[in-house]
Amino acid sequence: MSETISVNGTITPADAAVVSPLDRGFLFGDSVYETMRTYGGRPFLLREHLDRLRLSAERLEIPYERAPVAIEPEVHRTLAAAGLPETALRVVLSRGRGPLGYAIEDGGPPTVVIHARPCPQMPAGNLREGVDVAIVDVTRNPRTSLDPAIKSSNLLNNFLAWRAAQRLGAYEPILLNLSGRLTEGATSNLFLVHGDLLAGITRALVLELARGAGLDAVEESLGPEALRAADEAFLTSTLKGVLPIRRCDGWPIRHGRPGPVTRRVIELFEERVQAETKAGSAPGSILR
Ligand code: PDD
Repeated sequence: MSETISVNGTITPADAAVVSPLDRGFLFGDSVYETMRTYGGRPFLLREHLDRLRLSAERLEIPYERAPVAIEPEVHRTLAAAGLPETALRVVLSRGRGPLGYAIEDGGPPTVVIHARPCPQMPAGNLREGVDVAIVDVTRNPRTSLDPAIKSSNLLNNFLAWRAAQRLGAYEPILLNLSGRLTEGATSNLFLVHGDLLAGITRALVLELARGAGLDAVEESLGPEALRAADEAFLTSTLKGVLPIRRCDGWPIRHGRPGPVTRRVIELFEERVQAETKAGSAPGSILR
């Protein structure tokens, strides 16, 4: 099989998978998700991703414990059924079926969907030359609206920002918050480099690796001018890894060439992936 989906433990080719139209994930985006990938055939940072899934579910009071299948073994089962060399995985936990309306008492149990597909390859040119970003006019949801820390499948904020970037010919949007400060991309975190390193799961690993290599990595609130004036900038995410930014709003960052700090961080990240793949250590041991 290649593109394969498990719905509550029933594994089928992607085309044959079925979820109820009364599922609140479908009706309201009332579900949480994680995107993971394998390196060397094993899910990378699995423990961190499942911990974050549980936290997101808790924030929405989706009862993780009442899921009809145990998620971790089901991830492995789906992965094995897909039989791919490298897999991108999306794990969705929704609150489950209605009733139609917001009351949650009579609904459920949760629905677990695990989607395994061939891991998309990042074009070599994107890594070598960097990608273009645009600061878009779609603002990031404030915490008091739909907290972006909850990784929910209610992704219209991200989608609208991504479409705005597409219209501007950019690869990824950069969203500002309501105070006009930089936040993140539609599917990635943002790092800026000033002199040395300044400031997901990839993000946490990159911060750990950068600090371990003696780069001065801090997290702070910055305005859009800081991105345009950065010496270097890059994006991080599970599927993008560490990806240099070439231009912001059409303006080249560091003459439009990935700089030495970005290249060093890419090297550190790749070394860690290789070490993890070779060592056969327990997935998820990396950030501890
Ligand atoms: N996106 N910020 C947002 C809004 C994201 O959606 C993601 C991940 C990240 C990076 O997090 P991580 O390093 O844990 O992947 C940051 C995934 C890949 C997705 O939406 O499919």
